[in-house]
Amino acid sequence: MDRIHITGGATLNGTIPISGAKNAALPLMIASLLTGETLELINVPRLADIAALTRILGNHGVDHMVVGKRPGQTAETGQTVRLTASNVIDTTAPYELVSTMRASFWVIAPLLARFGEAKVSLPGGCAIGTRPVDLLIMALEKLGAEIEIDGGYVVAKTKNGLRGAEIAFPKVTVGGTHVALMAAALAYGTTVIDNAAREPEVVDLAECLIKMGARIEGAGTSRIVVEGVARLSGARHEVLPDRIETGTYAMAVAMTGGDVTLVNTRTDLLASALDTLAATGTEITPVADGIRVRRNGGGIAPADVTTDPFPGFPTDLQAQFMALMTLAKGQSRIRETIFENRFMHVQELARLGARIRLDGDLAVIEGVERLKGAPVMATDLRASVSLVIGALAAEGETQINRVYHLDRGFEALEAKLGRCGAQIERVRA
Ligand code: EPZ
Repeated sequence: MDRIHITGGATLNGTIPISGAKNAALPLMIASLLTGETLELINVPRLADIAALTRILGNHGVDHMVVGKRPGQTAETGQTVRLTASNVIDTTAPYELVSTMRASFWVIAPLLARFGEAKVSLPGGCAIGTRPVDLLIMALEKLGAEIEIDGGYVVAKTKNGLRGAEIAFPKVTVGGTHVALMAAALAYGTTVIDNAAREPEVVDLAECLIKMGARIEGAGTSRIVVEGVARLSGARHEVLPDRIETGTYAMAVAMTGGDVTLVNTRTDLLASALDTLAATGTEITPVADGIRVRRNGGGIAPADVTTDPFPGFPTDLQAQFMALMTLAKGQSRIRETIFENRFMHVQELARLGARIRLDGDLAVIEGVERLKGAPVMATDLRASVSLVIGALAAEGETQINRVYHLDRGFEALEAKLGRCGAQIERVRA
């Protein structure tokens, strides 16, 4: 298994291009199942999760083509991918494929809406909590699907198509909102989604569906109204920038010090996290096409954070912010309200010398003078990158094992950080 080797202590200076958002690209790719025409997606990141979903779509019979580079594009320019689901040969998503990535469960919505049937493996356990799919199933049942669980599979059917309905989510769910949107787009009549997720990735999916001919209003608010249409067409859509990658590199600079411009991204995608970073003493300046992040020698002020659905502080930046707080001048408190078991990085950060106490969903961090490099283990995607950030600021050498977690969600991590002065290399197994 590959490892990442980091010699800490260098400040970061330069420019980092931000990739297309993994969590937008995944539902967008799945939306290709809603039409027999070609969906062209621009700025798709090169990531293990994208490759995994490509295999799943391929198994259903979706044609996948990567368009070659055009003049003016660079290695950092995301891929342009054409997906054509004109010949879907199989509406089953098998366990072997779905178990590698939870989001693949979402194929259930377009398969059911377009073909009237789907058989999709339950996604199974996950390192960051139980993460059930009950609300996704509830949404499909409201739309008239008949659903049973058989041998670890969710088997969904509809006799005469899905029917518009009122779907009120008791809790904000990103996946639930994606599924409801895709299914309602091809249902007969009007669907109202209440307590919908307001995440930018939901807005991105809605905008792409609208280009495909869907009638959707209110995406980005907690009430979305969908007027179902009989068929959707192909479209061309650019994946929005990755707000979690943006926040991760901003936190890395806040911790190591230096001056980095993050390009191909937008401040409005992560205003809450940037405000919190500013409160810690990091200078955040919006620039054309991105964000300049600076910290010049001043100490890191502690700040308290509670994770919340958008526009709150994202759970996907909680681990990275905790890494930053390990070097703050004083005590900070981080409350995780989205997932019940998302503190696995705590033990590993402790190996670098961090002082963190856990009490249920609360982490209390006592800032220390310095961290010291050590061998550590990546446990999930965002936890892993918090170790990278900690290691960049630690004295001496850190070896991060199990880096396949990082490859699921951070495109060209070593190259992007290395070009800004980080001493980071991948040791191939
Ligand atoms: C998405 O997961 C993201 N994944 C996650 O990013 C992100 O952490 C999460 O949203 C929250 O922002 C993708 O977009 C691919 P949810 P999702 O449904 O949709 C509970 C990363 O690191 N819930 O919004 O699966 C659930 O257990 C990943 O990139 C139910 O109880 O999350 C959680 O407590 C990790 N029943 C809460 O809702 C359900 O049926 C929010 O989950 C569904 C969810």
